[in-house]
Amino acid sequence: MRARTQVGIVGAGPAGLVLAHLLRQAGVSSVVLESRSREYVESRVRAGLIENRTVELLDRHGLADRLRERGMPHLGTELRSFGRRLRIPYGEGADGRAMVVYPQQDLVADLIRLWLDGGGELHFEVEDVSLAGLDGGRPVISYRYGGGVSREVECDLVAGCDGSHGVCRGHVPEGAMTELSQDIPIAWLGVLARIGPSTDEIIYSLHEHGFAGHMLRTSEVSRFYLQVRPGEPLEEWPDDRIWAELQARLQSPGWTLAEGPIFQKNVADMRSVVVEPMRWRSLFLLGDAAHIVPPTGAKGMNLAIGDAGVLAAAIAEWCAGGDARQLDEYSDACLTRVWRAQEFSLWMTALVHRMSDDPHQRRLQRARFDSLMASPAARRTFAESYAGLN
Ligand code: FAD
Ligand code: PHB
Repeated sequence: MRARTQVGIVGAGPAGLVLAHLLRQAGVSSVVLESRSREYVESRVRAGLIENRTVELLDRHGLADRLRERGMPHLGTELRSFGRRLRIPYGEGADGRAMVVYPQQDLVADLIRLWLDGGGELHFEVEDVSLAGLDGGRPVISYRYGGGVSREVECDLVAGCDGSHGVCRGHVPEGAMTELSQDIPIAWLGVLARIGPSTDEIIYSLHEHGFAGHMLRTSEVSRFYLQVRPGEPLEEWPDDRIWAELQARLQSPGWTLAEGPIFQKNVADMRSVVVEPMRWRSLFLLGDAAHIVPPTGAKGMNLAIGDAGVLAAAIAEWCAGGDARQLDEYSDACLTRVWRAQEFSLWMTALVHRMSDDPHQRRLQRARFDSLMASPAARRTFAESYAGLN
């Protein structure tokens, strides 16, 4: 069976789903293919903090109703370093633009529901996705679904939105894209606990044992992260050890951390990776398929949705009048923001993690925190990068 569409989208994460919606609104057809089940992608725990410009983009396209209704505005973030506390505001004042706390899986569920309700085509649990004809004008995506039925989709362009373990990038000939990366020798153990937050605002804390983060979800559920070694086995982290480390690493005089049952745990290694350019012929890479940022800056999903905004506008222009200029500029247009996010995320990672035992490095780390404590301008710069204000 062969179907035809204008844009074949591989991956129903934030990048692929937002792209599909924006294209539909511009009158461009697409088909979305997803290797996991609907239940799986709607419950996969990932990001929780969304930049204001991302919310505005979703709002402009009528995709943020539930996010506006249920998300919590977030007006500042707290940094703790060896007992010192510093709140950095960003959602206040003349140009105040709040971030929003809203779980990624809820946004994904909203986008899927709106897409299917509007008659959009989305196939879950597809297997053996393979691309052909990328260097000609008519690429074809072949895949299997429903336990073995083979299908093909012929399209004009392919959007590789299949995340960091996807298959699209593997179809680019060697040498046509360059991967630039930096190893980061740490990982985050993430947990979800059934307990209301002990803070109104996200806390990033540095302690002798390493980083701990108190993030937010709902009034009944909180998200926490602990710095661990890459590949750390979860068995080494029974719940009582997790709470003991969170208590130690987040401690601050006069502040208490409430504990509750932990119902989800995972370990995510940290990486900084960028693939350049983000396009080869008819294949465009978006989001985690093209770049991975350390989670410290909360940038990954925002970048993924940003890529979708840039590509949708370029495809709409090309489909409307044949002008390929924006398509040709897609990669450069995205990479400026991507590299700035990499730089900030790595800087922030080095600020709040135990990166080294070298006393010289650790004194430099303290000096970075001193600058933030001392300088309103330094805090403003942090806020601009963190909240995505420029
Ligand atoms: P994904 O969400 O990975 O979606 C890709 C989709 O493609 C998946 O559904 C996958 O199943 C599917 N797929 C894969 N292979 C195939 C295939 N062969 N065929 C079909 N489908 C396929 N970002 C933020 O902005 N804010 C945060 O607060 C934040 N916190 C984070 C915390 C942690 C611990 C981690 C690990 C990440 C965090 N991120 C955060 C990053 C964010 O979750 C990702 O950057 C985001 O999911 C990227 O979206 P995407 O659409 O590019 O990729
Ligand atoms: C989250 O809410 O999961 C979250 C928030 C901020 C980060 C990373 C993750 O930097």
